[in-house]
Amino acid sequence: MIEQNQDLQLEHQKFVADLGQWQRTHTCGQLTLENDGAEVCLMGWVQYRRDHGGLIFVDLRDRQGLTQIVFSPDMAPEAHENAHILRSEYVLAVRGTVRPRPEGMVNPNMPTGQIEVVVLEWKLLNTSKTPPFPIEDRCDAGENLRLAWRYLDLRRPRMQGNLFMRHKVSQTIRRYLDEGGFVEVETPVLTKSTPEGARDFLVPSRLNNGEFYALPQSPQLFKQMLMVAGFERYFQIVRCFRDEDLRADRQPEFTQVDIEMSFVDEEQVMTMAEGLMARVFRDVLGKELTLPFPRMPWAEAMARFGVDKPDTRFDLELKDITDVVRGSGFKLFAQARLVKGLKVPGGENLTRKEIDGFTEFVKIYGAQGLAWIKVKSEEEWQSPIAKFLSENERKGIAAALDLRVGDIAFFQAGEADMVNAALGNLRVHLAEHLNLIPEDSFNFLWITDFPLFEYDAEAGRYVACHHPFTSPAPGHLELMNTEPEKVLARAYDMVLNGNEVGGGSIRIHTEAVQRRMFEALGFSPSEAESQFGFLIQALAQGAPPHGGLAFGLDRLVMLLSDSNSIRDVIAFPKTQKATCLLTDAPSPVSAVQLRELGLRLREQVKEESRKKADDGGA
Ligand code: AMO
Repeated sequence: MIEQNQDLQLEHQKFVADLGQWQRTHTCGQLTLENDGAEVCLMGWVQYRRDHGGLIFVDLRDRQGLTQIVFSPDMAPEAHENAHILRSEYVLAVRGTVRPRPEGMVNPNMPTGQIEVVVLEWKLLNTSKTPPFPIEDRCDAGENLRLAWRYLDLRRPRMQGNLFMRHKVSQTIRRYLDEGGFVEVETPVLTKSTPEGARDFLVPSRLNNGEFYALPQSPQLFKQMLMVAGFERYFQIVRCFRDEDLRADRQPEFTQVDIEMSFVDEEQVMTMAEGLMARVFRDVLGKELTLPFPRMPWAEAMARFGVDKPDTRFDLELKDITDVVRGSGFKLFAQARLVKGLKVPGGENLTRKEIDGFTEFVKIYGAQGLAWIKVKSEEEWQSPIAKFLSENERKGIAAALDLRVGDIAFFQAGEADMVNAALGNLRVHLAEHLNLIPEDSFNFLWITDFPLFEYDAEAGRYVACHHPFTSPAPGHLELMNTEPEKVLARAYDMVLNGNEVGGGSIRIHTEAVQRRMFEALGFSPSEAESQFGFLIQALAQGAPPHGGLAFGLDRLVMLLSDSNSIRDVIAFPKTQKATCLLTDAPSPVSAVQLRELGLRLREQVKEESRKKADDGGA
């Protein structure tokens, strides 16, 4: 990067000219030897400037690439005269002639590396202050700096590539769904809350003080209304809003590819979704996927992998040893509701420090510690817990985990949720740590047969696992009141490399079953009526059987583009604290705006009551 001095930049502004009649003839990624001798006009940004004796070289950049341009005192003295003012990110238009680069200056790594453009005439379209980081892929600027200067960050080829890919994915999806008879319909953003399990973003109403819209967590109920309305096949690429704790694969506003179909069962929805993925992978990555995707019932995923979105690119599986250690002298194992082990073949070389790291890691998931055993030889187990285990228990554990000399196994004991989460996530962490994940592989998987309900200990009641509009499995309706935890749902999630990229279900389409569902979730009839009256009413007006699913577009593009965070595939994302560093949102609003909305902030209320008290006391 050329350091530019601010005073100079101001002075250079006097050279800024209008575009006038100039028109671009080519992009900066286009010219080759075939264009030798052509007169061209290029426009773009100065990537580098190099002064070589009399000649001045500039790499000119636009979204297509870089082209070397040359200002020569012999060929075009006038054009050369002021070219020394050019600095990084100045905006330029050049007219010139294409010629082969001289011997020794050819760059075979660059599409335009065979040629250069000798400038006949140029215009400075704008100057630029020194960018806070270089505009190139090799950039080690911190993410916060990149987000604050997002428009500069987005000039980098990698980021542009991500957004071009996102565009291609969206276009491919639109084409596929259009060809399949799906109609794109927009649904409201100012709406009533739809429960998808997260907190709502609320918008206060000026015209109806004291009342609030909720931003949609998904268009779930509207798409169901469209099925009742007879659209049969709907889709939308739509923004959804969820006020939840953020992670690398979550944003408070994110984009869904939302789809709904009438007169279908889960097979038809899943086949349509697989076809969509196959099309996207073919058109965007040039990869052929094998269809259909494998399927795994939820219970099996939890048992073998501890999570409902297993990464199946590598082996490592959890084994249940609860029964083996039931009567153990090791109380922690004997008394636990669930005990599971995870073997890493050949992992005996892991150091104490590494194991300590894994122990810290599982604490995120509520584990107190992490038990382990290294199999040094047939007889010798190196382990903090081996001494508590009987010969029979050792044999049982060795058999259950198929332990061999040189292996290490990790164990977790406690409540099922914690044990599964700790070991299931450790499994992925270990695979990353030990480089067990093959590069460039895409493993799709459907998870099916989810439970309909899960128990929410905090709320002290059952909540819907997916959402309350998901249909129970055939024959399971009767269990709803007696054994809710056993009811299975007609729901399915699509998993890609350990990420949930989509999910959906066959919906409840009769009024009676929907009412029973609300009842099972602990809604009184009047609560159900006030929150979902419009849905119940719609289902009573000839609702067809229907179902669908929604893909997380950001997540999908993140995986397709091999990015580490969904923020890298969103033009203007929020930080982990849900702020926008570019615009500085969220930000305070004026007292007038608050008054119009009929709102007072807690601080304001406090201030007012303090004043009142003071006045009263005086
Ligand atoms: P669900 O809640 O599973 O289903 O969401 C569908 C998909 O959206 C993506 N996703 C997210 N992506 C980024 N940031 C987030 N905060 C976030 N939350 C979810 C995931 C997920 O698989 N209405 C139902 C769909 C249906 O039943 O048809 C729904 O919203 O990839």
